[in-house]
Amino acid sequence: MKGLILAGGSGRRLRPLTHTSAKQLVPIANRPILHYVIDDLVGVGITDLGIVVGDTADEIKASVGDGSAWGATVTYITQKAPLGLAHAVLVAEPFLGEEPFAMYLGDNMFEDPLDAVVAGFDGRGATARLLLAKVEDPSAFGVAELGSGGAITALVEKPEHPPSDLALVGVYLFGPRIHEAVRAIQPSARGELEITDAVQWLIDQGGVVEHRVLDGWWIDTGKKDPLLRCNELVLDTILPLVGGTVDGRSTLDGPVRVDEGAEVVDSTLVGPLVVGPGARISASTVGPYVSVGADCRIDRSTVEKSVLMEGSRVVDVGLMTSSVLGRQAAVDGGASPGNQPVSVLLGDHSVVDVGQ
Ligand code: G1P
Repeated sequence: MKGLILAGGSGRRLRPLTHTSAKQLVPIANRPILHYVIDDLVGVGITDLGIVVGDTADEIKASVGDGSAWGATVTYITQKAPLGLAHAVLVAEPFLGEEPFAMYLGDNMFEDPLDAVVAGFDGRGATARLLLAKVEDPSAFGVAELGSGGAITALVEKPEHPPSDLALVGVYLFGPRIHEAVRAIQPSARGELEITDAVQWLIDQGGVVEHRVLDGWWIDTGKKDPLLRCNELVLDTILPLVGGTVDGRSTLDGPVRVDEGAEVVDSTLVGPLVVGPGARISASTVGPYVSVGADCRIDRSTVEKSVLMEGSRVVDVGLMTSSVLGRQAAVDGGASPGNQPVSVLLGDHSVVDVGQ
């Protein structure tokens, strides 16, 4: 089985972060989401990977390389414009050929083990296998309608009146008939070739479309709150390890990872928390649920439930919570920091003065 990872798209819902970088490279616990996706596929023996890239191709290539770091082979496939998931399959056909494949959206993460999902699928009996998850707001996703026998009878993309609470998770298994399907459909109202329409075509042609309902969590990380939630879920799994320096006036509580080259001075760290290499925290309280990227600075501040990307700074801020700071971004409380908690989503290199 081959793997097809979608890492194009415009990341509209994570702007301004995605004005300057790919949404699939936003870090979760200091690692790009895309790296977890590759881990997952390689972990079940899928090592022949195609990665569909768009405007952010250079950045994705710099982050993943030729795949040898995972023992995988990566073929990059260019999608000239984000014209939909089914369009990505269309442009990937020369890579995929007649083999069954697992298509994985590069901004999705889920807890269930992938081996149970792929077991027994060869693309010949069933033409597709979909993953579904029960969600509170199905109208934000593709939604499946199940018939009385429990099989999928219809799929609708972002319906105003969802027929069920079962959303389509961003991992799909397909056999070669999907190529016929993506050629048969027309663009949707949003101008995209929808994978839901392609699968609906398979169903209408009498193809067998199986599904599994996930037991564990699933997150489409393309928006700030789900991204922070995902950061929390992954931080919950970290192992405490102090490779950097922590001075005698600092205390660590709960699972805290301080990477080599990081420095913690006169501060309280509350896990789960990761502090990347070269970061410096002084006179601050940090955590729980904070990912402090490489070379960040936190001085005289309290920070919780946030993602600080590489080189960002938080100085003199009373409380920063539920925030995402892009690379080299800065939040400064100035000479008279206020008491109001600060919650921001900042693009790379942005500077915000929150003093009062
Ligand atoms: C896409 C699919 C949708 C699916 C979702 C999962 O939506 O079109 O069916 O539920 O991914 O993340 P998009 O992120 O393109 O809006």
